[in-house]
Order: sequence, then C-alpha cells, then structure tokens
Amino acid sequence: MQRFVEACATWLASRPEAACRRAALALGEAAMIGGAAVTDETPAVMAHLEPALTAVRGPLADALRAAGDEIAWFESRSGEVERHMGGRNAMSQVVGPDSPLVSETVRFGTFLIAPGTCYPRHAHSADELYVVVGGRGRWWIGDSPYRSYGPGEVVHVMPWQKHAIRTDEAPLLTLWAWMGDFDFKNYRMEPDGFDADGQAI
Ligand SMILES: [Fe+2]
Repeated sequence: MQRFVEACATWLASRPEAACRRAALALGEAAMIGGAAVTDETPAVMAHLEPALTAVRGPLADALRAAGDEIAWFESRSGEVERHMGGRNAMSQVVGPDSPLVSETVRFGTFLIAPGTCYPRHAHSADELYVVVGGRGRWWIGDSPYRSYGPGEVVHVMPWQKHAIRTDEAPLLTLWAWMGDFDFKNYRMEPDGFDADGQAI
C-alpha cells in the first residue's frame, strides 16, 4: 500500500500543475498507522479493472497492478451516487483521516467506472484532482463542453465547481484526491444534472 502511494506521489511531484504538487506533498506526509483496509465485497464493476489496464504502461498502472488486493475497493453507497451509478462504480480511499495511511490534509484513492455510465453533475467544497490511469472518460466542468481524457492526463476541479463524468465504450480508471475542505458533508448532487424524467444529463 505504502509503495503504491509513494509511486503516485512521485508521479504527481513531477507534474507541472500546482494542485498535483500539493497532492504529492500531502501524500508524502501521510503516516502508516494501521494495516491494510479490509473489504468483504467485490463490487461488480471490478470486472472492468483488467480491461481498463490492458496495454497501459507506466509507473501508475504498474503500481496499481503491484498493489493488487491491498487496495480495498468498495461501491459508493451515498444515495444519489448509488441511484445513478449502482453496480457501475467502485472506489477506494487509501489515504485520509480514517484510512490506513492517515492524513488530515488529503483524501486519496482509486475510482473505477463501468462503460456507458454517467456520473451526474455534482459539486463539493473539496479541491479535486483526477488522474486517469487507464481507459477513458469525458468530463464536463463548469460551463465547458465535455472533454475526453485518457491515461496520464490530469483533471482539476475547483471547490464547488459543478462537474460530471461520462464513459462510453471503455471503462474509466482514475486516481482521485480531495484537498482543502474535504468533509463529505459538503457534497451536493445538483438538481439541474437531471432531465424531467430524472435521467442524468
Ligand atoms: Fe467530484
């Protein structure tokens, strides 16, 4: 686990984006105090992990492969996320206030979304970073049109900036980091992210 986080921190430290370097610093200060997190479930979407990593080379994909079962994947059970992405997403949080690697300044983990999925518009107080490790996804951020991101690309979302993610034929495998005010209570799924039938837009 620690080796995985170190590899991610090294990669982030080499990036030009200030948010990446902030995340790298915070990850470098995280302290290992517990054993690996335990999960007793294998989310259905995990079938897409290997396909997402196929043919992807580089330190992040290698580190994720090497970490293997040390990463405790679980499906997000927060109401709106489950309603729109139930069975189609899994995440882990390997660094954070309540994670095996403890940090009070960053939450950090992995995120996997099945093909053909929409993560509806939402916003939160945390400063958010996504790093695409494998597969592909499209991000809608603020008023910008959807833009496609692939392996090695970084997406930065500012606090309370509305954003959404869509996948098409490929799954999407990312790292994620929340910095700043990362209280999960400050998270909103936006009502304008749905059409009249409640479908995500
Ligand atoms: Fe977000």
